Amino acid sequence: MTSLPKGPGKFALLRMMFDLSKTLADLAREYGDPFTLPSAFGPMVIAVAPEGNKEIFTADPDTFTASAADSFGRVIRTSVLVTSGAEHKRQRKLLMPPFHGQRMRSYGNLMKVRAREWAARLAPGNPFAMIYTTQAITLDVIIEAVFGVDQSERVQLFRTEILALLEAFSPFIFLKPLQHEFGGLGPWARFQRGFRKLGEHVYALAAERRANLNGREDILSLLLSAKDDEGKGLSDQEILDQLLTLVFAGHETTAVMLAWAFYLLHKNKETLEKLHAEIDPVAEDADPESIAKLPYLEAVVNETLRLYPPVHVIHRKLARPFTLLGHALPVGTIVAAGAFATHRVESIYPEPERFSPERFLNKSYSPFEFLPFGGGARRCIGAAFAIYEMKLVLFSILKLYRFQLLETEEVRFAHRLGTVGPKGGIRMMLEK
Ligand code: HEM
Repeated sequence: MTSLPKGPGKFALLRMMFDLSKTLADLAREYGDPFTLPSAFGPMVIAVAPEGNKEIFTADPDTFTASAADSFGRVIRTSVLVTSGAEHKRQRKLLMPPFHGQRMRSYGNLMKVRAREWAARLAPGNPFAMIYTTQAITLDVIIEAVFGVDQSERVQLFRTEILALLEAFSPFIFLKPLQHEFGGLGPWARFQRGFRKLGEHVYALAAERRANLNGREDILSLLLSAKDDEGKGLSDQEILDQLLTLVFAGHETTAVMLAWAFYLLHKNKETLEKLHAEIDPVAEDADPESIAKLPYLEAVVNETLRLYPPVHVIHRKLARPFTLLGHALPVGTIVAAGAFATHRVESIYPEPERFSPERFLNKSYSPFEFLPFGGGARRCIGAAFAIYEMKLVLFSILKLYRFQLLETEEVRFAHRLGTVGPKGGIRMMLEK
């Protein structure tokens, strides 16, 4: 016998699409653990306590398919985000090396330089939304890391096309009946045009690179030369889909987290002072490696990821029947580890709404208690890269500038492209 756990009706979905003031933590308190939330792609059963997250992350990966295939499947058809099973495993193996160890650390100076450059464009006394600055930094970093384009006009070209594609992005492109070009009109046609244009630039660059791959360390070049165990590489279509996945997954999330970090630090002045006490004695040109080892900076980054994970639920779709916390669930159900709600379980995180980096200085948390990057066979490929970037950007900007937070009330949530970010983007002002 299968039965879905209790949960709110369809109205909750509609309400959450427009207003996220009722969070998953509130729903968990109301309906128990796990609870069922209606979603545009079918009912989603969400676990909250670490036991449920553990059942999901440690299950045989073939229990699930990628639920993102329902939304992104027609957009980035061959991307690691939407494939499952052996194909997914093969792609991860090819994609992961640039995001770890020495390769990942080689992007440290680029992260510092771009942070300083974009911050230098801010005019003292002029209000601005922090998310635009953090997004500009993370977009430049990911474009340069992924495509290895160093002439600034080339970065500019990719930046323009990527921003145009982001602008053409709308939730309507996920609706199957609207996925037609309708003689070039409508959101799907507009999105496809942007996608094709960007594709032409990527293919042109790939052709140039193929002609001379020697000594190149950018991700495009690494992917062009990567081979799996059977000697098979990635096709051009796969390379395009993977690169665009990395660009979008890799800049938006980090930009959102950085904006939240600036918000939390300036709302909690004593924390900002503690961070300054750690970073002020460190030279501005200190090597990225030693900056990344600063313990309070690391705790600030972790505590921001705990309070405001940009992906509130880590979901998969059942390819086989599965029992979650005693509930037998049928094939096709979406199951999710409820990162946002788990991060607010009081027995794990006392005073959960309080921003307190200290909790990460004195204690470590299991991967089922602290899961901003998901877990199991689909855990975020860019986690180490993102943490490194958050640390270096915070260090580089806070070292040189002082800001005033212009938000007078608690900042609410807003749905963004695949993430949940701060409504209004965190309004701040550079001090004179
Ligand atoms: C603070 C920044 C980031 C956060 C919070 C974040 C979070 C996540 C989460 C929650 C998932 C889903 C994991 C799961 O299903 O278990 C994910 C997947 C993914 N992320 Fe990130 N991410 C961040 C930055 C990045 C960066 C910098 C990159 C690459 C440059 C990246 C690339 C990916 C990819 C390719 C996947 C799909 C993995 C798969 O399905 O196998 N992410 N990320």
